[in-house]
Amino acid sequence: MFDTIGYETYRNEIENHILDFLPDIDQKSITLYDSMRYSLTAGGKRIRPILTLTACDIAGGDMRHALPYACAVEYIHTYSLIHDDLPAIDNDDMRRGKASNHVIFGDATAILAGDSLLTCAMEAMLKDMMLYFDKPQELARRIRAANAIVKGSGVRGMIGGQIADIEAESKSISPELLDYIHLNKTAALIESAILAGAYIAGADREQLDALSTFGECLGLAFQITDDMLDVRGDDAEMGKKSGQDSKLQKAAYPSVHGMERSEARLAELTGAAASALAPFGEKSGFLIRLTEALASRKM
Ligand code: IPE
Ligand code: IPE
Ligand code: MG
Ligand code: MG
Ligand code: MG
Repeated sequence: MFDTIGYETYRNEIENHILDFLPDIDQKSITLYDSMRYSLTAGGKRIRPILTLTACDIAGGDMRHALPYACAVEYIHTYSLIHDDLPAIDNDDMRRGKASNHVIFGDATAILAGDSLLTCAMEAMLKDMMLYFDKPQELARRIRAANAIVKGSGVRGMIGGQIADIEAESKSISPELLDYIHLNKTAALIESAILAGAYIAGADREQLDALSTFGECLGLAFQITDDMLDVRGDDAEMGKKSGQDSKLQKAAYPSVHGMERSEARLAELTGAAASALAPFGEKSGFLIRLTEALASRKM
């Protein structure tokens, strides 16, 4: 996917290191490890960790330093998908082209695999921070990166959005509430993945503000595309089932705004995301191409 824009190189970097930051697992917990590994290696676009690496790069940092935080974000994202698919939430039995985690391992293990991916993310970031006790400035950058990731995944971010998403099921909702849901359940983690990379690079205020706006626009655009793919996407190409949002009467762009206005909003956000990167000049090329490719993705 997107190989013309240089995406595959970054994706391979994530694929090669995605298991590196998991702690050694006791043989007695092997089922848990298998379950985590099943979902972590099932594929996925790896957009969030790629954004962490490339935001670090664009802000003048060394992307290798951002790798533990990039993988931590992907652990959290993968946990959010495992829980999102559970019968008690979206009840989806296909994910990343395979049976959903709970279909293979059962609900109880899937819940615990999600929990442990979240704690593994914390461990990965803290382990990295502990290497910098004698370099206060480097340590401060890492604390800020972790803080961004934790905030974006928590009650004022992804989880906050997920609860609002569940509560909005089968209800007629305002466009404001729809944006609240999407900004929290999806855009918050995407924005924090980007900010984490920028913090590791030691980005200045202007760079952080630009990347924050970029992340919010890209994140909202990303969920609008996901909503539209639920209407018109191909199950095999997406690796998950379409038609799920209408089945559960989810708060989604097509049902609130219609496909045409959803498309227009997507184009507007894609433009705004690109404009936000103006301070980076030519260095923003990859992120702009990625944003455009994501708006017309089929998966
Ligand atoms: C799916 O995210 C859930 C949303 C927030 C829309 P992705 O589309 O990034 O899923 P993977 O990681 O590629 O499987
Ligand atoms: C998921 O949104 C957002 C998460 C935080 C996991 P969706 O429920 O629309 O994601 P898909 O369509 O199942 O991937
Ligand atoms: Mg959901
Ligand atoms: Mg879902
Ligand atoms: Mg969806």
